[in-house]
Amino acid sequence: MGLIDELNALEARAHNLIEGAGDAAALEAARVALLGKKGEITSVMHMMGKVAPEERPVLGKRANELRRMAESLLERRGKGLRREAMAALIGAEAVDVTLPGARPTLGHEHLINQIRHEIEDVFCAIGYTVEAGPEVETSWYNFTALNAPMDHPSRSARDTFYVVDNAPGSVTHPEEHAAGESDVLLRTQTSGTQVHIMEHQKPPIYAIVPGAVYRPDTADACHLPQFHQVEGLVVDEGITFGDLKGTLDYFARAMFGPERKTRYRPHFFPFTEPSCELDVSCHVCGGKGCSFCKHSGWIEILGCGMVDPNVLINCGVDPERYTGFAFGIGVERVAALRYDLPDLRTLMTGDMRFLAQF
Ligand code: DAH
Repeated sequence: MGLIDELNALEARAHNLIEGAGDAAALEAARVALLGKKGEITSVMHMMGKVAPEERPVLGKRANELRRMAESLLERRGKGLRREAMAALIGAEAVDVTLPGARPTLGHEHLINQIRHEIEDVFCAIGYTVEAGPEVETSWYNFTALNAPMDHPSRSARDTFYVVDNAPGSVTHPEEHAAGESDVLLRTQTSGTQVHIMEHQKPPIYAIVPGAVYRPDTADACHLPQFHQVEGLVVDEGITFGDLKGTLDYFARAMFGPERKTRYRPHFFPFTEPSCELDVSCHVCGGKGCSFCKHSGWIEILGCGMVDPNVLINCGVDPERYTGFAFGIGVERVAALRYDLPDLRTLMTGDMRFLAQF
């Protein structure tokens, strides 16, 4: 086989090698095999010296053609491979911006917190501070300092969750409290924070305290073992029952509507004297009587009263100089009244079909 035939065969090989290269590495290997220092085309160029002088122009021209052809094939295949790689990348990373997005579900405040914040807003608007107190309390704060007698039934383990039980109700004098001997319990009411506030703050005091309270009740439509209250405490010079009425009338109308009537019904709480419960005229029937208000025309919304002087004394406040009033609002109760909730347990189960309504 003459040299010219060899060159033709080499040309065919070069075509196969370059066009068959499937990726950049294979193409580089083809370049080295053909045009590298020891490549086949390079070797042909080097052989020219040994060729007979009369054959040289023809073979030299053919060899040069072959080299240029290989170079241009390499370049074309290189471009092709880069285009293919880009197309594959675009295909793999493609995002169809016209597809509908996955909408993240936005959460919102739980109904209990909505009501709690609404109550805070009503009182903050008239200058009250918002305070917090411990949920794990001693019997001193939850009962004794609040003037609850030693034999008050709510002290029993039936009505109070005791955490550390030093014979419930046995250790309740101020000196024993000071010695750290009080029973430890989960607070049954936010009223104990009245004591904490008066211990840390000199009057004038205008404060509310929202928070969770606990009672050993089995959950049913009207009871929850954990629920929420907002305590209110005012202690200042010259505070009268008129101040209590004016403040709570304002609250009742802010929460339940400007046309609500109010009624203060005598009641008993150990820590207030006199004590009462506040009723508002039924917002369903306007006070005429309906099934919602059990045909009375009134709905009970909170307990309140003038702070008992014994409580002031227990907290180191001079009852000759200061008077005050206190109140306790049930947050679940307000929610139930506002939305006519048939079962309080729905507030605790986390069922979004229920909660998303509010
Ligand atoms: N602590 C009472 C309860 O849990 C509610 C209450 C009544 C709070 C009268 C008060 C008050 O501050 O003055 O039933």
